[in-house]
Amino acid sequence: MMTKVAASSARPADPCCLIIFGASGDLTHRLLVPALYNLAASGLLPDAFALIGVARSPSSSEAFRDDLAKSLPKFATRDIDERVVKKLLAYVRYVQGEPDDESTYAQIGQELACIERERSTNGNRLFYLATPPAGFAPIGCHLGQSGLAREQNGAWRRLVVEKPFGTDLASARALNQKLLGILKEDQIFRIDHYLGKETVQNILVLRFANGLFEPIWNRHHIEHVQITVAESLTVGRRGSYYDATGALRDMVPNHLFQLLSLIAMEPPSRFAADAVRAEKAQVLNAVQLQNDAEALRNSVRAQYQDGYVENRPVEAYRKTKDVNPQSTTETYVALRLLIDNWRWAGVPFYLRTGKALRAKQTEVAIKFRQAPIAMFRETPVERLAENFLVIGIQPNECIGLKFNAKIPGPSIAIGGVGMTFNYEDYFETPPSTGYETLIYDCMIGDAILFPRADGIEAGWSVVQPFLDAWRDAGAKGLAAYRAGSDGPAEADQLLARDGHHWRPIA
Ligand SMILES: NC(=O)c1ccc[n+]([C@@H]2O[C@H](COP(=O)([O-])OP(=O)(O)OC[C@H]3O[C@@H](n4cnc5c(N)ncnc54)[C@H](OP(=O)(O)O)[C@@H]3O)[C@@H](O)[C@H]2O)c1
Repeated sequence: MMTKVAASSARPADPCCLIIFGASGDLTHRLLVPALYNLAASGLLPDAFALIGVARSPSSSEAFRDDLAKSLPKFATRDIDERVVKKLLAYVRYVQGEPDDESTYAQIGQELACIERERSTNGNRLFYLATPPAGFAPIGCHLGQSGLAREQNGAWRRLVVEKPFGTDLASARALNQKLLGILKEDQIFRIDHYLGKETVQNILVLRFANGLFEPIWNRHHIEHVQITVAESLTVGRRGSYYDATGALRDMVPNHLFQLLSLIAMEPPSRFAADAVRAEKAQVLNAVQLQNDAEALRNSVRAQYQDGYVENRPVEAYRKTKDVNPQSTTETYVALRLLIDNWRWAGVPFYLRTGKALRAKQTEVAIKFRQAPIAMFRETPVERLAENFLVIGIQPNECIGLKFNAKIPGPSIAIGGVGMTFNYEDYFETPPSTGYETLIYDCMIGDAILFPRADGIEAGWSVVQPFLDAWRDAGAKGLAAYRAGSDGPAEADQLLARDGHHWRPIA
């Protein structure tokens, strides 16, 4: 029986007040407060902690606290301990106000003054923008103008911005410019909750804490890379948001590019925020920018049709509530990208993500070049198993290696086998929301897991040619796939052109 290793210990975060804008929303109730609960249960939340919720809906501090206490058991990932809840919700305030109204910020200032007197939060403030994106710039500007976010007397003031960070290159640049006009880069934490996943963070450890992989982590040994973020869920009730967004904007510049940059970046000089973030931005800057014709040739966009996902009947995307029945918004995208640097020149990176697919599965699969096979004359090359290193992100948290082995017997026959490391076999980690590490890092000022402005803009620069080419093409070239399938046939052809094929979605 293997002994499991418990999660590593860390110090409690700095005393602080967390001010959540959009506090009446889904993110706050479903993820942020349960994550704060988990931090408190693990002893990582400071004793001197206070929470201010801000939203337009009428409520009071008492009603807001009751509302959080009631919703917490519904969304908690662990058994609830009332003592922890009491500690977490010991000091909760609610400010009702319009995000555009100066008086909202005056009220927040009054609450903060009170908290900082009574609660010894040392003037440290973490502002969290959990509103729709339209609120990000106006709230950021008001925080700047009101002086609430100005650092002084050794107190830190930080701003967390949720995704999506812009809807194209121009809007991402404009948002960066606005926020950087108010705050310093090291005060801004652009959150991508994918980076809260242990398996994603482990990519850095796998690559840079082992001598085994880095020497072969390049074009000489790697044939291609597949990054898959498959969802079995449909668009559901998010029709109006999704129809204006699509799979490319929703997933690629953030989640898929985070995975790509961790896989493809050069080793940073130090494990420190600026060194890591600079390398991540650098590799995104090296992704080849495509012209219109290349963008169309190297991408597939598609919508799901009627079908069955995990035995549930699913209606076509265009029949979804709040979706235009003639919509050309893609629910699936596959891209073929190249990285123009010495490590990766000529190695295709295939990215795919979509809704209503066969199963929920996020993984990075690295395909190594085939061995010279002259030795095994009786075993035709097609019969050799492919060498893949597969990093399972979710739901299977694992690392697997696929290779060839001799099938027992008097003759040389070769069969594909696999070795798999499953996280749960080795480590004891209580179920989490994925936001714990990120919120904790904001509270201790560790920005390693948060993209910088240049990284965000580099990502949008890569995506923009696809957005432009698709806009110009309209419905032409929009493919279809059956709900519950692995995606459209056109995505298979994208790889077949290079002699490759997707790994099946499990
Ligand atoms: N929910 C998730 O799982 C999730 C995951 C990742 C990222 N996000 C991001 O997190 C943000 C919040 O998402 P959500 O799901 O919590 O949305 P939501 O349920 O619609 O909540 C939005 C909140 O913002 C307030 N609000 C609405 N319009 C506003 C505006 N124009 N200006 C300021 N406040 C406004 C709403 O309260 P009032 O109407 O009372 O003001 C509500 O409290 C979004 O940017 C989303 O993309 C959400």
